[in-house]
Amino acid sequence: MKLWGGRFEKATDHMVDDFHSSLPFDRRLYGCDIRGSIAHATMLGEQGIIPAEDAKAIVKGLQGILEDLAAGRLAFDPDAEDIHMFVEQELTRRIGAPGGRLHTGRSRNDQVALDGHMFVKEACRETMGLLKDLIGTLLKAARAHLDTVMPGYTHLQKAQPITLAHHLMAWVQMFLRDRERVRDCYKRADVMPLGSGALAGTTYPLDRQRVADLLGFSRISENSMDGVADRDFMLDYLYAASVSMMHLSRCCEELILWSTDEFAFVRMDDAFSTGSSIMPQKKNPDVAELIRGKTGRVYGDLIALLTALKGIPLAYNKDMQEDKEALFDAHDTWTKCLIVFEGMFKTLCFNADVMERGAAGGFTNATDLADYLVRRGLPFRQAHEVSGKMVLSCVKRGISLLDMTLEEMQAFSPLFDGDVFDAISIHTCVVARDVPGGPAPDRVLASIESAEARLQDGFPMRGRI
Ligand code: ARG
Repeated sequence: MKLWGGRFEKATDHMVDDFHSSLPFDRRLYGCDIRGSIAHATMLGEQGIIPAEDAKAIVKGLQGILEDLAAGRLAFDPDAEDIHMFVEQELTRRIGAPGGRLHTGRSRNDQVALDGHMFVKEACRETMGLLKDLIGTLLKAARAHLDTVMPGYTHLQKAQPITLAHHLMAWVQMFLRDRERVRDCYKRADVMPLGSGALAGTTYPLDRQRVADLLGFSRISENSMDGVADRDFMLDYLYAASVSMMHLSRCCEELILWSTDEFAFVRMDDAFSTGSSIMPQKKNPDVAELIRGKTGRVYGDLIALLTALKGIPLAYNKDMQEDKEALFDAHDTWTKCLIVFEGMFKTLCFNADVMERGAAGGFTNATDLADYLVRRGLPFRQAHEVSGKMVLSCVKRGISLLDMTLEEMQAFSPLFDGDVFDAISIHTCVVARDVPGGPAPDRVLASIESAEARLQDGFPMRGRI
């Protein structure tokens, strides 16, 4: 039975029933949907819009449905068009005529918008927590590797020496920004749209603020058309998820490289690696590869919703039903990847010796050699030229800068002195990069402490749904 059947003379084609049903995916919104309905019915009763005893019966009936669904005692009726219809039908089946008063002053358009806002708020809380856990794990590792020297790269060519802590703290900055994006997204999701009706509000004296308070929303939406047409808050979430997945993917790419025989900076735990069906020796970084691969699908979710929205006029159009699968898929993928990535990272074994040896090769101290000459008065551009010539000569001889004798160096510039060897030792190169944000261990420690403090910022937990 269709709840909107009055105007129709014919039943819907089965194909159409199947095509437009959203129950297979929006059923997971049942918690948000029923809590939203409980708040709406409570307010309707308080305002005298429906009889108080009917409001009571509705709330009680809805609570029963919520409990039964949560306990798996109630099956979703596959013939229901969507979660909203299912809940209303089930309510009326349970409590009779008063159930028919629940939808007073409401439309599925503002109802589905409310569910979306509630879902995104909850999703933000979850991802904030997961990002916090991941950052906490990275910070711990960074503290343990303040002095673990490794090569830093540009163009995937050795560039200058850094520490593993410094590298991990670069990751931390990425995930801290992800948290800011989620926090920002939460703010825009924290707006209560009920009362927008189908698009033009309602003739009943609804107390919208009361519903917002009951559901823990900070604000109510300010325009009834925008209240039902807006999906920006979902796009914000999808964008936050996309950027964060991109971050996870870049980290994974580094771990994949570092775990190759050629790099050997890191060994992945057996529990987070997989084998080959033909090559007995293989141990593949499939988890990291899969996270990298899933990044594309989250981008796809973002683009799918952007595209669905771009051509539709205000206010609600059925195209918008496509928002949910993209949102759910991105949320599920992102949260799973955050959890698995942290698990994989926790079990990594870093090969500090190999990293340090790597940092000593590839002329990573050539900039420091030039800087030495600058300290002796040579303009940087000339110092760069001298250092470059010395590198070229070393490349030809198959030695490193530190293998040259002082006399050999002085043939390139009379400014060289005995203290040059210490000045270009890999250890000095790291410690001397003592600028805020630099890899000198004290600076990295300061950045660890500042990140730890930022993690303690409270996230609005008001109005847990
Ligand atoms: N299932 C719909 C959705 O997910 C609910 C809103 C339906 N509104 C309507 N006017 N058909 O968007």
